[in-house]
Amino acid sequence: MKVLIVGSGGREHAIALSVAKSPKVDQIYCAPGNAGIGGLAQCVPIGAMEFDKIVAFAKEKEIDLTIVGMDDPLVGGLVDELEKAGLRAFGPRKNAAILEGSKAFSKDLMKKYHIPTAEYENFDDAEAAEAYLENARFPVVLKADGLALGKGVLICENLEEAKEGVKSIMLDKKFGSAGSRMVIEEFMTGREVSVLSFVDGKTIKTMTSAQDHKRAMDGDMGLNTGGMGTFSPSPFYTKEIDEFCMKYIYQPTVDAMAAEGREFKGVIFFGLMLTEKGPKVLEYNARFGDPEAQVVLPRMKNDMIEVIEACIDGKLDEIDLQFEDNAAVCVVLASEGYPVAYEKGYLIQGLESFEGKDGYYCFHAGTKKTEEGIVTNGGRVLGITAKGRELKEARENAYRAVQWVTFENKYMRNDIGKAIEEV
Ligand SMILES: Nc1ncnc2c1ncn2[C@@H]1O[C@H](COP(=O)(O)OP(=O)(O)OP(=O)(O)O)[C@@H](O)[C@H]1O
Ligand SMILES: [Mg+2]
Repeated sequence: MKVLIVGSGGREHAIALSVAKSPKVDQIYCAPGNAGIGGLAQCVPIGAMEFDKIVAFAKEKEIDLTIVGMDDPLVGGLVDELEKAGLRAFGPRKNAAILEGSKAFSKDLMKKYHIPTAEYENFDDAEAAEAYLENARFPVVLKADGLALGKGVLICENLEEAKEGVKSIMLDKKFGSAGSRMVIEEFMTGREVSVLSFVDGKTIKTMTSAQDHKRAMDGDMGLNTGGMGTFSPSPFYTKEIDEFCMKYIYQPTVDAMAAEGREFKGVIFFGLMLTEKGPKVLEYNARFGDPEAQVVLPRMKNDMIEVIEACIDGKLDEIDLQFEDNAAVCVVLASEGYPVAYEKGYLIQGLESFEGKDGYYCFHAGTKKTEEGIVTNGGRVLGITAKGRELKEARENAYRAVQWVTFENKYMRNDIGKAIEEV
């Protein structure tokens, strides 16, 4: 079969690698893809938001399955457009992708269906938000309603900061139209864990757990980024917690979406906070995480295409989802200065070191193929993943492998997965 993947990051590279392993697949295309994905797929210069072009391409090439990796096209309704044209697509339709697309929607859903999450209030008016803050407990969390590249969340220590935050989100529109509405919520403390899942509308099967490192610098200092590294599984995510979440969070979320007439088919990413009062939902995403996918998918034993087709056909209950009994760590190699300002266009050397090395992966994010070779082309450049028998070994392997690649202004965190040593 012919598969089209929509997106251009490390996540899509990890998806492409899993898809390529399926004996069912003859040809992979990626729109727009990147230099690394180009080794597995034919990249086509169509942007992820160019719906008409994507649909036309899929029809022309007789694509059997389109996998939408990114949040923007999902929230914008790319899956609906593909289906309207009679094409098969993996990912939630627009009316279900709202689970990620609107934080106010997801909070109201959780409240209505008694799914544990932080206390909150929604606002579409800056004055009302400011008035509410007068009596709030600090720190308080402000969230722009819509998609904001992981930057629409502000944790404010006091009233003054919070009022400034409301102003920047709702009045100055720092996150664009994402800030027309906002959520103000209770600050929670605890360990964060990410759990990805496959969903077919009724049945949900969770993947192995993972943990992200969002801040730019060691020790969780510096600005929030798209993610500087991940490890999987999370040793804090126990069997008891998993059972609790299945009963009170995962299945209730899928059932709630169905009850609302918003049947969810695709991947739900549960961002959880393990609080003293039990696990609570921090956020939902409607797609694989990036860089969570880079540690979760390499550990998956199933044929990715079989799982995806079962989701689309409502037959996920027939799938026995299995993961390797090992661990993986992904260290992101970024351009110095990310996430604020950075230079591009530097030659990347050593990429061939990964060839034929089992258990080591070099996922491309911001890279570009030029006549001189593959060069840096973004803030996050590569995701270096390594497996190990347990987390400590995976971590040692990943930090050995990051040395195989060099480019000017190469920057990384040195403490990815370090928290696990406290266990
Ligand atoms: N109520 C809360 N209490 C404490 N910390 C929080 C709370 N809500 C969010 N955070 C912190 O802010 C981060 C980002 O929040 P959230 O996941 O809602 O935003 P996002 O922009 O959708 O992120 P992503 O890019 O992962 O989708 C969380 O990972 C968490 O560290
Ligand atoms: Mg999110």
